[in-house]
Amino acid sequence: MAEQHQKLKTTIAVLGCGDVGATLAYTLLLKPICSEVILVDPKTALLEAQVRDLADATYRGNTGTKVKAGTHKDAGQADIIVITAGAKQKPGESRLSLLSRNLHILESIFSSMSPINPHAVLLLVANPVDILTYFARELSGLPESQVIGTGTSLDSARLRGKLSEKTEVSASSIDAYVLGEHGDSQFIAWSSIAIGTTPLRLALPESTTEEFRKEVADHTRGAAAAIIASKGCTAYGVANIAASICKYIMYDQRTIRPLSFYQPELGCCLSMPAVIGRKGIVRPMPIVLNSPEQEELEKCAAGLRAIIEGAEQ
Ligand code: LAC
Repeated sequence: MAEQHQKLKTTIAVLGCGDVGATLAYTLLLKPICSEVILVDPKTALLEAQVRDLADATYRGNTGTKVKAGTHKDAGQADIIVITAGAKQKPGESRLSLLSRNLHILESIFSSMSPINPHAVLLLVANPVDILTYFARELSGLPESQVIGTGTSLDSARLRGKLSEKTEVSASSIDAYVLGEHGDSQFIAWSSIAIGTTPLRLALPESTTEEFRKEVADHTRGAAAAIIASKGCTAYGVANIAASICKYIMYDQRTIRPLSFYQPELGCCLSMPAVIGRKGIVRPMPIVLNSPEQEELEKCAAGLRAIIEGAEQ
């Protein structure tokens, strides 16, 4: 019986129990995604309090998922290791300005966590997510396909939300991708957007105007900053996206989403569509970009590579 239980145990470790980590843990407890959530944070009093508060949410009508506090060593053995730990943007600050602080935190996490379960999937949430995903590949020693970042999956959800308002069609019936950096150089793959099976330009002729595209792109790119300006952080959106990615992995769901992962031909991690399953990136899904979109991709990759080179020195 004990052996059987052992086999059924599926663990997601959440590193960092601030706004994002705690909201993610809460989301994981309410959905049947894994049997155990381990929360890790060096602020022990906050950690214990978050675990107790989260556990209180599981006793009634629960999914059977348990939550407990753990160490970095425990986290290293989980099936999915989610890294939310790090400094967060202050109002007006860009994600990239967090790099040196969060890279330092990432290095210390890996030195306390190793050796890492070789089958674990590492999901980076902390920012700047594309750069941290790049360095997490090197620090973890895991295969490239097992190291991913939430990337522009959240920006793409925001884009679908905006297009849903404009077209009056459910966001879940819209295929639309923000690609590249989860940050200012991101771009929208306009040429591939479809409302159901109808290309956006046919479903909504005004969508080809510069004014329309600027309004939508500004909304998507500026969404986090607008929220941070008033409440000091974003948490629900990204936690929900991270929980969904955990589900695609745990259930080997083969869902297509834009995630940040290593792009050998571009020399950096950035978001492109991929099939997501138990091993992380099952395979990239090629997307046809028109030439302005291809140029944006290359510009975005050049910017990320320059930041990586700066951080390596
Ligand atoms: C956001 C943070 C997660 O976009 O970067 O909400």
